[in-house]
Amino acid sequence: MAAPLSTMKFWKPGCEAPGVSEERELSSEASGSPVIFNPHTSLSIEKQRQKLPVFKHRNNILYLVESYQTVIIVGETGCGKSTQIPQYLLEAGWAAEGKVIGVTQPRRVAAISVATRVAEERGALLGHEVGYTIRFDDRSDPQATRIKFLTDGMLVREMMADPLLKKYSVLMLDEAHERTLYTDIAIGLLKKIQKKRRDLRLIVASATLDAKKFHDFFNLNESADPNKDTCGILTVEGRTHPVDVFYTVSPVPDYVKATVETVMKIHETEEDGDVLAFLTGQDEVEKVVSLLQEQARSLSRHGMKKHLRVLPMYSGLPYADQMKVFERVPHSVRKVVVATNIAETSITINGVVFVIDCAFVKLRAYNPHNALESLVVTPISKASASQRAGRAGRNRPGKCFRLYTEEDFEKLPPSTVPEMQRTNLAPVILQLKALGIDNVLRFSFLSPPPAQTMVQALELLYALGGVDSYGRLTQPLGLRMAEFPLSPMFAKMLLESGGCGCSKEISTIAAMMQIQNVMVLPANQKKAAAREHRKFAVAEGDHLTMLNIYEAFLKHQKSSQWCHQHFLNYKGLLRATTIREQLRRLLTKFKVPWTSSEGDPDVILRCIVLGFFANAARIHHSGSYRTLRDDRELHIHPNSVLYGEKPPKWVIFNEVVQTSKYFMRDVTAVESSWLVELAPHFYKQAKHGSLASKRSRVL
Ligand code: CDP
Ligand code: MG
Repeated sequence: MAAPLSTMKFWKPGCEAPGVSEERELSSEASGSPVIFNPHTSLSIEKQRQKLPVFKHRNNILYLVESYQTVIIVGETGCGKSTQIPQYLLEAGWAAEGKVIGVTQPRRVAAISVATRVAEERGALLGHEVGYTIRFDDRSDPQATRIKFLTDGMLVREMMADPLLKKYSVLMLDEAHERTLYTDIAIGLLKKIQKKRRDLRLIVASATLDAKKFHDFFNLNESADPNKDTCGILTVEGRTHPVDVFYTVSPVPDYVKATVETVMKIHETEEDGDVLAFLTGQDEVEKVVSLLQEQARSLSRHGMKKHLRVLPMYSGLPYADQMKVFERVPHSVRKVVVATNIAETSITINGVVFVIDCAFVKLRAYNPHNALESLVVTPISKASASQRAGRAGRNRPGKCFRLYTEEDFEKLPPSTVPEMQRTNLAPVILQLKALGIDNVLRFSFLSPPPAQTMVQALELLYALGGVDSYGRLTQPLGLRMAEFPLSPMFAKMLLESGGCGCSKEISTIAAMMQIQNVMVLPANQKKAAAREHRKFAVAEGDHLTMLNIYEAFLKHQKSSQWCHQHFLNYKGLLRATTIREQLRRLLTKFKVPWTSSEGDPDVILRCIVLGFFANAARIHHSGSYRTLRDDRELHIHPNSVLYGEKPPKWVIFNEVVQTSKYFMRDVTAVESSWLVELAPHFYKQAKHGSLASKRSRVL
């Protein structure tokens, strides 16, 4: 291991700490998973399986898969799509002769939990007949595994080694309604593969009713005769009841406050039934929960007979707390679940009669003009609004209170913009090129991304050296970058780290950056936690702080107790050790030397610049920052160790989140001279000593 970074300056313990906690659920592929509730656990597995709505359609599904190349299956969350359909296929012989039934999931944790459940139902050990493959974690057996769950990103990766996906007989693209970037990419690639492999069957599983787009995309029948369609649709009926929708008369100025008021009004004036309120993020959820709990206490002091039980629900919440939202409550209690968008399709809570919809959701957004990717609170679509309302009518007729006017509802877009159209495309374009798709503009996209976003992606890849001036993948750098299971900037940084003399430290930093919330900030102990976190913070910024934490974790023998004492995420740190090990193996494969900077921080920081030079910002006299590329205003995120400290003149950052402002996350101080020296193709020194991006005007 590297020696401690002796030259680093440490903050004094006990200084005022950075503030709010920001969930990372949308900012990385590694988002937390919703828990699953099963009301029939007392029955035998056999009986449980037969009780699921999808069971009645078993034969029909098998018939459709025989008859059509692609089958679209629509059914609401919990009806049995993910766990049952792969088993029906297995039972019907689709995994004979060594073939595999593959099921993709947009989220890592969903792949693990569904695989675990299916293995359990089959009385099998996970990793044998039933397995999963996700980034940095493979629990499948190339010989034994017949049903394999994998993230859609992994499926695209598998195509690099096996372009026709020959080992699969059927692929089910699950949760297709989410339209995540890699689901869409997989859809485009699979359509291509299907033309060469007529035997390959596809199932597109969706929890919402917008199946027509999928049908039109996959239907290769060019005649008017529907009997010749190559794509079939099946709908598993939901047990839904009518839902009355109410709007506000005038726009609400503060939906957090309005949510609290609406819950109280329901509690006072409506009949029995639980409440589900939608908000956009963890902070809002916690705020509403604490305001409501206050009100609930005052109600019980005033002798109100019916009690309120208020519960938060978001993906970063500990498992045991997530499970609470499924617990039944006595008649004298009304349950109120305050949730993020996780409750829209990912989980189903029984007993909900009233839904409150704030009209917003937190989504990833990409601005091709300034190449900034951020998480933004955005108005929902009409499709989302009706999905949310539908959560009220599962057991009996319900009511949905929309905290917006009917006029505003009419202005909402019909459906959510697919991630493909609002994300930085550099990683997927690199992968498409590695798959031999050179002309990405002509790729068969379910929803084509804006041309400008494609151009931006190519420019970034060019600056990183992954493609040449003709847009062709470079050898070996571009191909290696595509092989790395991380974004191109990370890949570049890692591939350069051996030459820089710090691949050990850079691997640690890259691994730590994949972990959500390394530092834990419990709501009731924020100050104490922040005090502990300060002990690891270094003046250079977040990257070296993460390195410090990791090295301290190893020094303390990966102790969970030590993590607990210092408010660090034990499971996350353990995961970082396994990710780091895999990065080390990849570096070895590419013959990148395994080196250490032996305590010199500048070596490490310069290597970070080699990957992230495009994300550079300089301090502005107003106290905020400006991007070097576009002079865009940025701020240091409150979770950064640099927040509230004397601001460094020049910084680089990993990503941007947008809430009230654009915040840089994972920030580190750099020297301006490094930018010109290490990325001369990207920056140049302007006449009076300032620095400018080559694409923008020199000041
Ligand atoms: O995919 P879909 O949402 O249609 O349903 P599923 O994931 O196949 O789950 C069907 C049922 O299996 C759920 O309603 C749960 O009762 C049960 N289940 C479970 O108990 N544990 C899991 N990890 C997954 C599902
Ligand atoms: Mg499912």
